[in-house]
Amino acid sequence: SHSINLAVIPGDGIGQEVVAEGLKVLSAVLPQDVKLETEEYDFGAKRYHATGETLTDADLDSLKKHDAILLGAIGDPSVPSGVLERGFLLKLRFAFDHHVNLRPSKLLPGVATPLAGQPEIDFVVVREGTEGPYTGNGGTIRKGTPHEVATEVSVNTAFGVERVVRDAFARAQARPRKKLTLVHKNNVLTFAGHLWTNIFTKVAGEFPEVTTDYLHVDAATIFLVTDPARFDVIVTDNLFGDIITDLAAAVSGGIGVAASGNINPSGEFPSMFEPVHGSAPDIAGQGKADPTATVLSVALLLRHLGYETEAVRVEEAVSADLTERGTAVRTTAEVGDALAARVAS
Ligand code: IPM
Ligand code: MN
Repeated sequence: SHSINLAVIPGDGIGQEVVAEGLKVLSAVLPQDVKLETEEYDFGAKRYHATGETLTDADLDSLKKHDAILLGAIGDPSVPSGVLERGFLLKLRFAFDHHVNLRPSKLLPGVATPLAGQPEIDFVVVREGTEGPYTGNGGTIRKGTPHEVATEVSVNTAFGVERVVRDAFARAQARPRKKLTLVHKNNVLTFAGHLWTNIFTKVAGEFPEVTTDYLHVDAATIFLVTDPARFDVIVTDNLFGDIITDLAAAVSGGIGVAASGNINPSGEFPSMFEPVHGSAPDIAGQGKADPTATVLSVALLLRHLGYETEAVRVEEAVSADLTERGTAVRTTAEVGDALAARVAS
């Protein structure tokens, strides 16, 4: 018999509500002989206001002991911008070396897209998660004067680029279409862009079955809207990946269904799974939030832990639910109950 020891971080706003439904579906889909143990952590705005802490070294030590982490959302208007982003979310991604930020986009049946003609959308973005302009490598001089200078250096290491590019090639290789697109801006970012391009070309040699493509990030935003079917797997840096995955979510059903995994492929540290959406304080506590993105993140979690059959069951349940959803307005818990019932049957 197996067990899953899960760290649960509901966080702020609707995080609490959607995580409860994610757990409901997770419990329902797991085979009887798999023991699910959960431990809840109180990170987020409340703890920050009470203690000034966002994520301490002791917290990281506790989190480290889990098999995976399920996160709702962190963020509240009462906390200055950047405090929880840097002090919690990015700190955790960096500390646990979540270098593969996995963000699938699949337009499911019954889901509205702003794009014309309901195109086929089924691609996954492998966003680098520990480097680029996110490293906090920058500074300001002459602050507050008309001559202030601010730098925000994008850090790209051969090691960091190669491991994420190789991961993306392996994912492309495992998919039916076997196509990988590198998205960057190597016509302007000639240092980092060339590092990415050279490594991409080198690793491509090890994956002869994978068709490769390159797009500048600006052109990629055009194709994500005009021809999303051209994409299978995309690999890109941390900031480009942040931006294009919001666009990808917008064209493939919106953030209500966008899931993500912050993955440490070696398993040295637990990976973290979270909906792409934020804490939505405007609708918090009203039972209005759609838990679907969290439930799809649970599917990614299951797949990562080796429960492929269960992951597929969750995805199929979501797909069926969306198809039949229609215009009926359901509460957060009603959607969770419906999905839990589907995966259990
Ligand atoms: C995301 C978010 C984060 C990011 C923010 C909240 C730090 O936008 O997960 O995409 O930029 O990575
Ligand atoms: Mn983002």
